[in-house]
Amino acid sequence: MATPPVIILLGAPGAGKGTQAKRIVERYGCLHVSTGDMLRGAVSAGTELGTLAKQFMDAGELVPDEVVIGIVRDRLAEADVQKRGVLLDGFPRTLAQADALGAVLEEVSLPLPVVVDMQVSEEEVVQRLSTRRMCRGCGSIYNLSREGLDVGDACPKCAGEIYQRDDDRAEAIRERMKVYNAQTAPLVEYYQSRGLILAVCAVGSVESVNDCVMAALSERLGG
Ligand code: AP5
Repeated sequence: MATPPVIILLGAPGAGKGTQAKRIVERYGCLHVSTGDMLRGAVSAGTELGTLAKQFMDAGELVPDEVVIGIVRDRLAEADVQKRGVLLDGFPRTLAQADALGAVLEEVSLPLPVVVDMQVSEEEVVQRLSTRRMCRGCGSIYNLSREGLDVGDACPKCAGEIYQRDDDRAEAIRERMKVYNAQTAPLVEYYQSRGLILAVCAVGSVESVNDCVMAALSERLGG
């Protein structure tokens, strides 16, 4: 049986990780593990984890490493991940998380990751995030300037409520960019030095970025 893939989507907030993730998992049949979605789920469910995470997320800061590493470690140990492989979206985000991930992958006998670095300018991400809209029902990602859907509208896929994320306010976006540059951008060099990075220009239409991502991935993974 072919080895299940481990794909990491690296990139600034708003680079388009969630948008491309959905297409990649369809193509490779692997599971989509988004730490942002898991944490937002915990916030909506009002769990202890959600209460802890919300204060960091709303401020645009990172949730503490030990919390996020624990969630991902548990998820990667599950049988479906071992069988189908995984696409990690929003993890790792710090050097400590990257080291922990390396150890977990070895523990659970998954291969070295393929890391897609989605490159986009700060100006573009600020524009994208301030106009992003999401569906509360199915989690679909929209953009006011593309689909014209706004807060309170109904999702065309599931009729769920369209909303704007609390961390897509101007002040939180600025903080998230600062945090990305300080804590996550160094991971590009970390994975580059291990020969695991695929750099992709994430500017252009969703479809043209998808073509570039798929071309880069299929060179490394086949398929
Ligand atoms: P998370 O949910 O991971 O947010 P993020 O990394 O900031 O990424 P985003 O979801 O904002 O953007 P994206 O790259 O997925 O872009 P999208 O596809 O939506 O994390 C949120 C918070 O959770 C963090 O701040 C932190 O507090 C916490 N957290 C999560 N993981 C953590 C971790 N590992 N450690 C610690 N804390 C953690 O696209 C954005 C918009 O652009 C959309 O409107 C979309 O339609 C549009 N768009 C997409 N592609 C294109 C394109 N090619 N052209 C034009 N528009 C486009």
